[in-house]
Amino acid sequence: MPVLAIDAGTTGVTALVVGEDGDVLSRGYREFAQLFPRPGWVEHEPDDIWTATVAACREALAGTEDQPTCIGITDQRETAVLWDRRTLHSPRPAIVWQDRRTTGICDRLRGDEERVSQLTGLRMDPYFTGTKFAWLAEHEPRTWSGVRDGALALGTVDSYLIARLTGGARHVTDPSNASRTLLFDLEKGAWSDELCDLFDVPRSALPELVPNSGVVGTTDPDAFLGLSLPIAGIAGDQQAALFGQACFSPGMSKCTYGTGSFVLTNTGTTAVRSDAGLLTTVAWDLGDGLVYALEGAIFVTGAAVQWLRDGLGLIDSAAEIEGLARTVPDSGDVVFVPALTGMGAPHWDPHARGAILGITRGTTRAHIARATLEALAFEVRDVVDVMVDEAGLSVPELSADGGASANDLLLQLQADQLGVPVRRPVVTETTALGAAFLAGLGTGVWASTDELTQTWALDRRFDPEPGRRDDGRHDRWKDAVGRAGHWTS
Ligand code: G3P
Repeated sequence: MPVLAIDAGTTGVTALVVGEDGDVLSRGYREFAQLFPRPGWVEHEPDDIWTATVAACREALAGTEDQPTCIGITDQRETAVLWDRRTLHSPRPAIVWQDRRTTGICDRLRGDEERVSQLTGLRMDPYFTGTKFAWLAEHEPRTWSGVRDGALALGTVDSYLIARLTGGARHVTDPSNASRTLLFDLEKGAWSDELCDLFDVPRSALPELVPNSGVVGTTDPDAFLGLSLPIAGIAGDQQAALFGQACFSPGMSKCTYGTGSFVLTNTGTTAVRSDAGLLTTVAWDLGDGLVYALEGAIFVTGAAVQWLRDGLGLIDSAAEIEGLARTVPDSGDVVFVPALTGMGAPHWDPHARGAILGITRGTTRAHIARATLEALAFEVRDVVDVMVDEAGLSVPELSADGGASANDLLLQLQADQLGVPVRRPVVTETTALGAAFLAGLGTGVWASTDELTQTWALDRRFDPEPGRRDDGRHDRWKDAVGRAGHWTS
Protein backbone atom coordinates (compact mmCIF):
# COMPACT_ATOMS: atom_id res chain seq x y z
CA MET A 1 0.00 0.00 0.00
CA PRO A 2 2.24 2.85 -1.22
CA VAL A 3 1.79 6.49 -0.24
CA LEU A 4 2.07 9.59 -2.43
CA ALA A 5 4.02 12.37 -0.70
CA ILE A 6 3.94 15.95 -1.97
CA ASP A 7 6.73 18.23 -0.76
CA ALA A 8 5.91 21.75 -1.91
CA GLY A 9 9.24 23.44 -1.13
CA THR A 10 10.48 26.96 -1.71
CA THR A 11 12.00 26.46 -5.15
CA GLY A 12 10.09 23.44 -6.43
CA VAL A 13 7.66 20.61 -5.75
CA THR A 14 8.85 17.03 -5.19
CA ALA A 15 6.44 14.10 -5.38
CA LEU A 16 7.49 10.67 -4.11
CA VAL A 17 5.71 7.35 -4.19
CA VAL A 18 6.89 5.66 -0.99
CA GLY A 19 6.60 1.91 -0.39
CA GLU A 20 5.83 0.10 2.84
CA ASP A 21 9.54 -0.42 3.57
CA GLY A 22 10.07 3.33 3.45
CA ASP A 23 11.79 3.01 0.08
CA VAL A 24 11.23 5.52 -2.70
CA LEU A 25 9.49 3.74 -5.60
CA SER A 26 9.40 6.73 -7.95
CA ARG A 27 9.72 10.50 -7.95
CA GLY A 28 8.73 13.60 -9.84
CA TYR A 29 9.99 17.17 -9.54
CA ARG A 30 9.07 20.57 -10.96
CA GLU A 31 10.61 23.95 -10.27
CA PHE A 32 8.52 27.09 -10.33
CA ALA A 33 9.34 30.76 -10.81
CA GLN A 34 10.81 32.86 -8.01
CA LEU A 35 9.60 36.45 -8.25
CA PHE A 36 11.70 39.31 -6.85
CA PRO A 37 9.57 42.40 -7.57
CA ARG A 38 11.72 44.68 -5.37
CA PRO A 39 14.92 44.29 -3.33
CA GLY A 40 14.10 42.11 -0.32
CA TRP A 41 10.73 40.98 -1.71
CA VAL A 42 10.12 37.33 -2.68
CA GLU A 43 6.85 36.10 -4.20
CA HIS A 44 5.38 32.95 -5.78
CA GLU A 45 2.35 32.63 -8.02
CA PRO A 46 0.05 30.10 -6.27
CA ASP A 47 -1.13 28.88 -9.69
CA ASP A 48 2.53 28.03 -10.47
CA ILE A 49 2.82 26.01 -7.24
CA TRP A 50 -0.37 24.13 -8.11
CA THR A 51 0.71 23.46 -11.73
CA ALA A 52 4.11 22.22 -10.50
CA THR A 53 2.37 19.98 -7.94
CA VAL A 54 0.16 18.31 -10.53
CA ALA A 55 3.08 17.85 -12.95
CA ALA A 56 5.40 16.41 -10.25
CA CYS A 57 2.67 13.98 -9.10
CA ARG A 58 1.92 12.93 -12.68
CA GLU A 59 5.63 12.17 -13.22
CA ALA A 60 5.93 10.21 -9.95
CA LEU A 61 2.77 8.19 -10.64
CA ALA A 62 3.97 7.34 -14.16
CA GLY A 63 7.22 5.96 -12.71
CA THR A 64 5.73 3.00 -10.85
CA GLU A 65 3.14 0.27 -11.25
CA ASP A 66 2.31 0.55 -7.54
CA GLN A 67 -0.45 3.08 -7.22
CA PRO A 68 -0.76 4.99 -3.92
CA THR A 69 -3.66 4.64 -1.54
CA CYS A 70 -3.34 7.99 0.25
CA ILE A 71 -1.55 11.36 0.12
CA GLY A 72 0.67 13.22 2.58
CA ILE A 73 1.49 16.90 2.13
CA THR A 74 4.38 18.96 3.40
CA ASP A 75 5.24 22.52 2.50
CA GLN A 76 7.51 25.54 2.77
CA ARG A 77 6.21 27.14 5.94
CA GLU A 78 5.18 30.73 6.81
CA THR A 79 4.45 31.74 3.20
CA ALA A 80 1.21 33.75 3.07
CA VAL A 81 -1.34 32.69 0.44
CA LEU A 82 -4.83 33.95 -0.27
CA TRP A 83 -7.32 32.57 -2.76
CA ASP A 84 -10.89 32.92 -3.92
CA ARG A 85 -13.02 30.30 -2.15
CA ARG A 86 -15.14 29.80 -5.30
CA THR A 87 -12.64 29.89 -8.20
CA LEU A 88 -9.56 28.86 -6.13
CA HIS A 89 -7.52 31.50 -8.00
CA SER A 90 -5.39 33.97 -6.09
CA PRO A 91 -5.88 37.70 -6.49
CA ARG A 92 -2.16 38.35 -5.86
CA PRO A 93 1.06 36.35 -5.52
CA ALA A 94 1.96 34.59 -2.28
CA ILE A 95 4.41 36.44 -0.01
CA VAL A 96 7.25 34.01 0.65
CA TRP A 97 8.84 33.32 4.06
CA GLN A 98 12.12 34.88 2.85
CA ASP A 99 10.41 38.19 2.04
CA ARG A 100 11.63 41.10 4.22
CA ARG A 101 9.03 43.76 3.32
CA THR A 102 7.46 43.65 6.78
CA THR A 103 10.62 44.77 8.61
CA GLY A 104 8.97 48.18 9.28
CA ILE A 105 5.77 46.58 10.62
CA CYS A 106 7.87 44.43 12.96
CA ASP A 107 9.78 47.49 14.20
CA ARG A 108 6.44 49.23 14.84
CA LEU A 109 5.06 46.25 16.78
CA ARG A 110 8.26 45.74 18.80
CA GLY A 111 6.44 46.81 21.98
CA ASP A 112 4.17 43.76 21.65
CA GLU A 113 7.03 41.33 21.02
CA GLU A 114 7.26 39.93 24.53
CA ARG A 115 3.56 39.08 24.66
CA VAL A 116 3.64 37.67 21.11
CA SER A 117 6.64 35.48 21.97
CA GLN A 118 4.95 34.26 25.12
CA LEU A 119 1.86 33.17 23.16
CA THR A 120 3.55 31.83 20.02
CA GLY A 121 7.13 30.81 20.91
CA LEU A 122 8.25 32.94 17.93
CA ARG A 123 9.69 36.43 17.45
CA MET A 124 8.54 39.65 15.82
CA ASP A 125 10.30 39.03 12.52
CA PRO A 126 9.30 39.41 8.84
CA TYR A 127 9.82 35.64 8.48
CA PHE A 128 6.41 34.85 9.95
CA THR A 129 3.03 34.80 8.18
CA GLY A 130 1.12 37.15 10.49
CA THR A 131 3.35 40.09 9.59
CA LYS A 132 2.71 39.39 5.89
CA PHE A 133 -1.06 39.37 6.41
CA ALA A 134 -0.74 42.64 8.36
CA TRP A 135 1.13 44.15 5.40
CA LEU A 136 -1.62 43.09 2.99
CA ALA A 137 -4.30 44.54 5.27
CA GLU A 138 -2.41 47.85 5.35
CA HIS A 139 -1.18 48.11 1.75
CA GLU A 140 -3.84 46.32 -0.29
CA PRO A 141 -7.15 47.28 1.35
CA ARG A 142 -9.24 46.32 -1.68
CA THR A 143 -7.91 42.77 -1.63
CA TRP A 144 -8.24 42.67 2.14
CA SER A 145 -11.92 43.62 1.94
CA GLY A 146 -12.40 40.28 0.10
CA VAL A 147 -10.77 38.58 3.11
CA ARG A 148 -13.09 40.43 5.49
CA ASP A 149 -16.27 39.66 3.58
CA GLY A 150 -15.42 35.95 3.31
CA ALA A 151 -14.83 35.74 -0.45
CA LEU A 152 -11.10 35.08 0.03
CA ALA A 153 -9.51 32.39 2.20
CA LEU A 154 -6.14 32.73 3.99
CA GLY A 155 -3.57 30.06 4.64
CA THR A 156 -0.11 28.67 4.17
CA VAL A 157 0.86 26.53 1.16
CA ASP A 158 -0.49 23.30 2.73
CA SER A 159 -3.99 24.83 3.10
CA TYR A 160 -3.89 26.19 -0.42
CA LEU A 161 -2.87 22.85 -1.95
CA ILE A 162 -5.53 20.97 0.01
CA ALA A 163 -8.13 23.46 -1.24
CA ARG A 164 -6.95 22.83 -4.81
CA LEU A 165 -6.72 19.05 -4.39
CA THR A 166 -10.24 18.82 -2.95
CA GLY A 167 -11.77 21.21 -5.51
CA GLY A 168 -12.38 23.77 -2.77
CA ALA A 169 -14.14 21.36 -0.39
CA ARG A 170 -11.60 21.69 2.47
CA HIS A 171 -9.93 24.70 4.12
CA VAL A 172 -7.67 23.14 6.77
CA THR A 173 -4.18 23.30 8.22
CA ASP A 174 -2.23 21.41 10.87
CA PRO A 175 -0.67 22.68 14.12
CA SER A 176 2.91 22.55 12.83
CA ASN A 177 2.14 25.00 10.02
CA ALA A 178 -0.20 27.04 12.22
CA SER A 179 2.52 27.40 14.86
CA ARG A 180 4.60 29.42 12.36
CA THR A 181 2.00 32.10 11.64
CA LEU A 182 2.23 34.28 14.80
CA LEU A 183 -1.55 33.72 15.08
CA PHE A 184 -1.52 30.40 16.96
CA ASP A 185 -1.51 29.98 20.74
CA LEU A 186 1.22 27.43 21.33
CA GLU A 187 0.00 26.12 24.67
CA LYS A 188 -3.72 26.09 23.88
CA GLY A 189 -3.20 24.60 20.41
CA ALA A 190 -5.72 27.02 18.87
CA TRP A 191 -5.91 30.25 16.86
CA SER A 192 -5.61 33.28 19.17
CA ASP A 193 -8.19 36.08 18.91
CA GLU A 194 -5.73 38.43 20.62
CA LEU A 195 -3.09 37.78 17.94
CA CYS A 196 -5.64 37.96 15.11
CA ASP A 197 -6.58 41.45 16.39
CA LEU A 198 -2.95 42.53 16.60
CA PHE A 199 -2.18 41.51 13.00
CA ASP A 200 -5.60 42.58 11.67
CA VAL A 201 -6.56 39.09 10.52
CA PRO A 202 -10.22 38.04 10.59
CA ARG A 203 -10.35 34.75 12.49
CA SER A 204 -13.02 33.43 10.07
CA ALA A 205 -10.60 33.68 7.12
CA LEU A 206 -8.17 31.19 8.70
CA PRO A 207 -8.26 27.42 8.06
CA GLU A 208 -9.75 24.84 10.40
CA LEU A 209 -7.08 23.10 12.52
CA VAL A 210 -6.80 19.33 12.07
CA PRO A 211 -4.25 16.78 13.45
CA ASN A 212 -1.12 15.99 11.42
CA SER A 213 -2.14 12.40 10.78
CA GLY A 214 -5.57 11.06 9.76
CA VAL A 215 -7.92 11.55 6.84
CA VAL A 216 -9.00 15.18 6.39
CA GLY A 217 -10.43 15.12 2.87
CA THR A 218 -10.47 13.36 -0.49
CA THR A 219 -8.97 14.58 -3.75
CA ASP A 220 -11.45 15.67 -6.40
CA PRO A 221 -10.85 13.58 -9.55
CA ASP A 222 -11.84 16.53 -11.76
CA ALA A 223 -9.15 18.67 -10.13
CA PHE A 224 -6.40 16.08 -9.57
CA LEU A 225 -5.42 13.56 -12.26
CA GLY A 226 -8.73 11.68 -12.15
CA LEU A 227 -7.88 10.41 -8.66
CA SER A 228 -10.01 10.14 -5.56
CA LEU A 229 -7.45 9.63 -2.78
CA PRO A 230 -7.67 10.35 0.95
CA ILE A 231 -5.42 13.19 2.16
CA ALA A 232 -4.16 11.77 5.43
CA GLY A 233 -1.00 13.63 6.49
CA ILE A 234 0.03 17.31 6.70
CA ALA A 235 3.08 19.00 8.22
CA GLY A 236 5.37 21.94 7.71
CA ASP A 237 8.51 20.76 5.94
CA GLN A 238 10.91 20.98 8.87
CA GLN A 239 8.60 19.15 11.22
CA ALA A 240 7.97 16.57 8.48
CA ALA A 241 11.74 16.08 8.19
CA LEU A 242 11.96 15.53 11.97
CA PHE A 243 9.24 12.89 11.57
CA GLY A 244 10.90 11.38 8.49
CA GLN A 245 14.17 11.07 10.44
CA ALA A 246 12.22 9.05 13.02
CA CYS A 247 13.14 11.60 15.72
CA PHE A 248 10.14 10.51 17.78
CA SER A 249 11.71 10.74 21.25
CA PRO A 250 12.61 13.86 23.22
CA GLY A 251 16.26 14.80 22.68
CA MET A 252 16.52 13.57 19.09
CA SER A 253 17.76 16.25 16.64
CA LYS A 254 17.95 16.69 12.89
CA CYS A 255 19.27 19.30 10.50
CA THR A 256 17.83 19.73 7.01
CA TYR A 257 20.19 21.47 4.61
CA GLY A 258 17.87 23.02 2.01
CA THR A 259 17.43 26.62 0.84
CA GLY A 260 18.17 27.37 4.49
CA SER A 261 19.22 25.04 7.32
CA PHE A 262 16.76 24.09 10.00
CA VAL A 263 17.84 22.34 13.19
CA LEU A 264 14.99 20.87 15.24
CA THR A 265 15.18 18.98 18.52
CA ASN A 266 12.14 17.05 19.73
CA THR A 267 11.26 18.26 23.26
CA GLY A 268 8.25 15.99 23.78
CA THR A 269 5.17 17.44 25.47
CA THR A 270 7.19 20.34 26.97
CA ALA A 271 7.32 23.62 25.05
CA VAL A 272 10.94 24.54 25.86
CA ARG A 273 11.50 28.33 25.64
CA SER A 274 14.62 30.16 24.51
CA ASP A 275 15.68 33.74 25.16
CA ALA A 276 18.73 33.37 22.94
CA GLY A 277 17.30 33.17 19.46
CA LEU A 278 15.62 29.77 19.08
CA LEU A 279 11.95 29.21 18.25
CA THR A 280 9.52 27.05 20.15
CA THR A 281 7.30 25.29 17.69
CA VAL A 282 4.79 22.47 17.33
CA ALA A 283 6.38 19.31 15.98
CA TRP A 284 3.10 17.44 15.44
CA ASP A 285 -0.16 16.25 16.91
CA LEU A 286 -0.94 12.64 16.10
CA GLY A 287 -4.37 13.04 17.66
CA ASP A 288 -3.20 12.53 21.25
CA GLY A 289 -1.86 16.01 22.05
CA LEU A 290 0.84 18.39 20.94
CA VAL A 291 4.50 17.41 20.69
CA TYR A 292 6.92 20.36 20.60
CA ALA A 293 10.33 21.09 19.14
CA LEU A 294 13.00 23.71 19.67
CA GLU A 295 14.16 25.10 16.34
CA GLY A 296 17.04 27.06 14.94
CA ALA A 297 16.03 28.52 11.58
CA ILE A 298 19.00 29.58 9.45
CA PHE A 299 17.87 31.37 6.30
CA VAL A 300 20.67 30.93 3.79
CA THR A 301 22.35 27.59 3.04
CA GLY A 302 21.65 26.16 -0.43
CA ALA A 303 20.82 29.75 -1.33
CA ALA A 304 24.48 30.70 -0.66
CA VAL A 305 25.70 27.96 -3.00
CA GLN A 306 23.17 29.13 -5.61
CA TRP A 307 24.56 32.63 -5.23
CA LEU A 308 28.11 31.37 -5.89
CA ARG A 309 26.66 29.78 -9.04
CA ASP A 310 24.22 32.43 -10.30
CA GLY A 311 25.48 35.64 -8.69
CA LEU A 312 29.25 35.16 -8.95
CA GLY A 313 29.54 32.45 -11.63
CA LEU A 314 32.20 30.68 -9.47
CA ILE A 315 30.71 27.23 -10.17
CA ASP A 316 28.49 25.84 -12.92
CA SER A 317 26.41 23.58 -10.70
CA ALA A 318 25.77 23.37 -6.95
CA ALA A 319 27.25 19.85 -6.86
CA GLU A 320 30.62 21.23 -7.99
CA ILE A 321 31.25 23.02 -4.72
CA GLU A 322 32.54 19.97 -2.85
CA GLY A 323 35.19 19.10 -5.44
CA LEU A 324 36.32 22.73 -5.65
CA ALA A 325 36.46 23.16 -1.87
CA ARG A 326 38.53 19.96 -1.56
CA THR A 327 41.29 21.41 -3.77
CA VAL A 328 42.44 23.53 -0.81
CA PRO A 329 43.18 22.29 2.72
CA ASP A 330 41.33 25.19 4.34
CA SER A 331 39.75 28.53 3.49
CA GLY A 332 43.04 30.41 3.89
CA ASP A 333 41.44 32.43 6.71
CA VAL A 334 38.70 33.68 4.40
CA VAL A 335 35.34 33.88 6.18
CA PHE A 336 32.05 34.17 4.31
CA VAL A 337 29.01 35.32 6.32
CA PRO A 338 26.09 34.40 4.03
CA ALA A 339 23.58 36.86 5.51
CA LEU A 340 22.05 37.33 2.04
CA THR A 341 18.50 37.79 3.36
CA GLY A 342 19.37 39.11 6.80
CA MET A 343 20.28 36.71 9.62
CA GLY A 344 18.00 34.20 11.26
CA ALA A 345 18.80 32.06 14.30
CA PRO A 346 20.34 32.72 16.66
CA HIS A 347 21.12 36.36 15.71
CA TRP A 348 17.80 37.55 14.19
CA ASP A 349 19.06 40.64 12.45
CA PRO A 350 16.97 41.60 9.39
CA HIS A 351 19.41 44.49 8.78
CA ALA A 352 22.48 42.22 8.41
CA ARG A 353 24.12 41.84 5.00
CA GLY A 354 26.47 39.21 3.65
CA ALA A 355 30.24 39.70 3.98
CA ILE A 356 33.40 38.04 2.72
CA LEU A 357 36.37 38.89 4.92
CA GLY A 358 40.05 38.02 4.95
CA ILE A 359 40.66 38.10 1.18
CA THR A 360 44.28 38.44 -0.02
CA ARG A 361 46.00 38.37 -3.43
CA GLY A 362 46.33 34.63 -2.91
CA THR A 363 42.62 34.01 -2.43
CA THR A 364 41.04 31.81 -5.12
CA ARG A 365 37.51 30.68 -5.87
CA ALA A 366 38.39 27.41 -4.10
CA HIS A 367 38.95 29.31 -0.84
CA ILE A 368 35.59 31.02 -1.22
CA ALA A 369 33.91 27.67 -1.93
CA ARG A 370 35.54 26.18 1.17
CA ALA A 371 34.63 29.24 3.27
CA THR A 372 31.01 28.77 2.14
CA LEU A 373 30.87 25.16 3.36
CA GLU A 374 32.57 26.17 6.60
CA ALA A 375 29.97 28.94 7.06
CA LEU A 376 27.13 26.42 6.76
CA ALA A 377 28.76 24.30 9.46
CA PHE A 378 29.42 27.33 11.72
CA GLU A 379 25.81 28.49 11.42
CA VAL A 380 24.48 25.12 12.56
CA ARG A 381 27.02 25.02 15.39
CA ASP A 382 25.83 28.44 16.61
CA VAL A 383 22.29 27.09 16.87
CA VAL A 384 23.25 23.80 18.53
CA ASP A 385 25.50 25.64 21.01
CA VAL A 386 22.48 27.72 22.10
CA MET A 387 20.33 24.59 22.40
CA VAL A 388 22.91 23.05 24.70
CA ASP A 389 24.24 26.06 26.65
CA GLU A 390 21.08 28.15 27.03
CA ALA A 391 18.16 25.74 26.68
CA GLY A 392 19.93 22.92 28.52
CA LEU A 393 19.19 20.27 25.89
CA SER A 394 21.62 17.52 25.15
CA VAL A 395 22.46 16.95 21.48
CA PRO A 396 24.55 13.76 21.44
CA GLU A 397 24.26 13.36 17.66
CA LEU A 398 22.65 15.05 14.68
CA SER A 399 20.75 13.39 11.81
CA ALA A 400 21.37 15.21 8.52
CA ASP A 401 19.15 15.37 5.44
CA GLY A 402 18.18 17.64 2.55
CA GLY A 403 20.00 18.36 -0.73
CA ALA A 404 23.36 19.50 0.69
CA SER A 405 23.60 16.47 3.01
CA ALA A 406 24.98 14.63 -0.04
CA ASN A 407 28.13 16.75 0.50
CA ASP A 408 30.54 14.57 2.53
CA LEU A 409 32.92 17.47 3.19
CA LEU A 410 30.11 19.58 4.63
CA LEU A 411 28.99 16.80 6.99
CA GLN A 412 32.59 16.16 8.12
CA LEU A 413 33.07 19.90 8.81
CA GLN A 414 29.74 19.79 10.66
CA ALA A 415 30.77 16.89 12.88
CA ASP A 416 34.11 18.63 13.56
CA GLN A 417 32.40 21.86 14.58
CA LEU A 418 29.76 20.19 16.74
CA GLY A 419 32.11 17.68 18.31
CA VAL A 420 29.42 14.99 17.97
CA PRO A 421 28.63 12.41 15.23
CA VAL A 422 26.50 13.40 12.25
CA ARG A 423 24.39 10.59 10.74
CA ARG A 424 23.09 10.54 7.17
CA PRO A 425 20.23 8.16 6.32
CA VAL A 426 19.90 6.29 3.02
CA VAL A 427 16.84 8.37 2.09
CA THR A 428 17.77 12.05 2.40
CA GLU A 429 14.46 13.33 0.98
CA THR A 430 13.31 13.08 4.55
CA THR A 431 10.80 15.91 4.29
CA ALA A 432 8.66 14.06 1.76
CA LEU A 433 9.27 10.81 3.62
CA GLY A 434 7.88 12.38 6.79
CA ALA A 435 4.71 13.44 4.97
CA ALA A 436 4.36 9.88 3.65
CA PHE A 437 4.85 8.48 7.17
CA LEU A 438 2.17 10.80 8.60
CA ALA A 439 -0.33 9.82 5.89
CA GLY A 440 0.50 6.11 6.10
CA LEU A 441 0.19 6.17 9.87
CA GLY A 442 -3.23 7.80 9.47
CA THR A 443 -4.50 5.10 7.11
CA GLY A 444 -2.98 1.94 8.58
CA VAL A 445 -0.05 1.48 6.14
CA TRP A 446 2.11 1.60 9.27
CA ALA A 447 0.73 0.72 12.69
CA SER A 448 3.03 2.77 14.95
CA THR A 449 6.04 5.05 15.14
CA ASP A 450 8.05 2.01 16.32
CA GLU A 451 7.34 0.40 12.97
CA LEU A 452 8.49 3.58 11.21
CA THR A 453 11.74 3.60 13.21
CA GLN A 454 12.52 0.17 11.71
CA THR A 455 12.51 1.70 8.21
CA TRP A 456 15.27 4.25 9.07
CA ALA A 457 18.55 3.04 7.54
CA LEU A 458 22.02 4.58 8.01
CA ASP A 459 24.02 5.52 4.93
CA ARG A 460 27.10 7.00 6.63
CA ARG A 461 28.19 8.32 10.01
CA PHE A 462 30.67 11.23 10.25
CA ASP A 463 32.71 11.27 13.46
CA PRO A 464 34.33 14.48 14.71
CA GLU A 465 38.09 14.79 14.36
CA PRO A 466 39.65 15.53 17.75
CA GLY A 467 40.79 19.14 18.31
CA ARG A 468 38.87 20.61 15.37
CA ARG A 469 36.04 22.15 17.38
CA ASP A 470 38.40 24.45 19.28
CA ASP A 471 40.95 25.28 16.61
CA GLY A 472 40.08 29.01 16.59
CA ARG A 473 38.20 29.11 13.28
CA HIS A 474 34.85 29.46 14.99
CA ASP A 475 36.12 32.49 16.96
CA ARG A 476 37.09 34.18 13.70
CA TRP A 477 33.62 33.36 12.32
CA LYS A 478 31.94 34.98 15.35
CA ASP A 479 34.01 38.09 14.82
CA ALA A 480 32.95 38.21 11.15
CA VAL A 481 29.26 37.74 12.07
CA GLY A 482 29.56 40.77 14.35
CA ARG A 483 30.87 42.86 11.46
CA ALA A 484 28.08 41.83 9.08
CA GLY A 485 25.32 42.72 11.54
CA HIS A 486 23.14 45.88 11.50
CA TRP A 487 24.39 46.89 8.05
CA THR A 488 21.21 48.55 6.72
CA SER A 489 18.71 50.69 8.56
O1 G3P B 1 10.61 27.97 7.21
C1 G3P B 1 10.91 27.89 5.85
C2 G3P B 1 11.09 26.46 5.44
O2 G3P B 1 9.93 25.74 5.72
C3 G3P B 1 11.50 26.38 3.98
O3 G3P B 1 12.08 25.18 3.73
O4 G3P B 1 13.12 23.41 2.39
O5 G3P B 1 11.65 25.04 1.26
O6 G3P B 1 13.88 25.73 2.10
P1 G3P B 1 12.72 24.83 2.26
